[in-house]
Amino acid sequence: MADLTETNPSSVIQTRYLSTTRSSYDTVAHDYAVLLADALDSRPLDRALFGAFAEMVGPEAEIADLGCGPGHVTAYLRGLGANAFGLDLSREMVKVARQRHPRIRFVEGSMTELDLADGRLGGIVSWYSIVHTPPELLPTVFAEFHRVLAPGGHLLIGFKAGERLHHLDRAYGHDLSLDVYWTPPEQIASLLQEAGFAVDTRLIREPSDAERASRQGPQAVIFAHRPPQDA
Ligand SMILES: C[S@@+](CC[C@H](N)C(=O)[O-])C[C@H]1O[C@@H](n2cnc3c(N)ncnc32)[C@H](O)[C@@H]1O
Repeated sequence: MADLTETNPSSVIQTRYLSTTRSSYDTVAHDYAVLLADALDSRPLDRALFGAFAEMVGPEAEIADLGCGPGHVTAYLRGLGANAFGLDLSREMVKVARQRHPRIRFVEGSMTELDLADGRLGGIVSWYSIVHTPPELLPTVFAEFHRVLAPGGHLLIGFKAGERLHHLDRAYGHDLSLDVYWTPPEQIASLLQEAGFAVDTRLIREPSDAERASRQGPQAVIFAHRPPQDA
């Protein structure tokens, strides 16, 4: 029998996080995609941020949309001429993304252990994909982001600003089990700096009327880059 006193607590946290998040998004993938498919149409600010990001990275270098969900952000970046592909933990999300965007590459994988060579990417987008990551594991995720980005490469992160853990038992019409973390932008910025990033921009967007009605708070966006001399 396993000796639980010797179990590494952070690996227990990681295993639980990955399995509950994966199975929750497997369950909701189809309905999430239907709900979110046209979300960017009504979000001019987000489109502008992705436009700026695509311009920073340029058309050649590869961009990974990590935690891409149904792939609408990946597709938007491709539409801007960016060389983007998507990666997600949930097999069903990847399946839905491939069905919706058959000309774009989507792969299964985890931000905690990316199957990507060191320095391969020119850009990483993590759009609300760290919101389920337990705080203890953010350094692991940001170390992976730093490892796979080329020196000079750019990172764009969107997340929920605040300081709160919200547990969801039901969402998108299904029973599930998801932790959702709201994190202070200064905390994310300092973890990124500890991982070796230079933080360029921090933005706070107040909740829209619809978000306010569903008791959402402010949303945060950070642009950062891996310093060019950091080879
Ligand atoms: C809130 S959804 C955001 C999806 C999409 N980026 C969007 O903007 O709609 C979070 C997504 O992150 C994915 N995710 C969470 N943890 C992950 C991990 N460790 N590695 C890869 N994907 C992850 C989930 O499967 C889910 O598709």
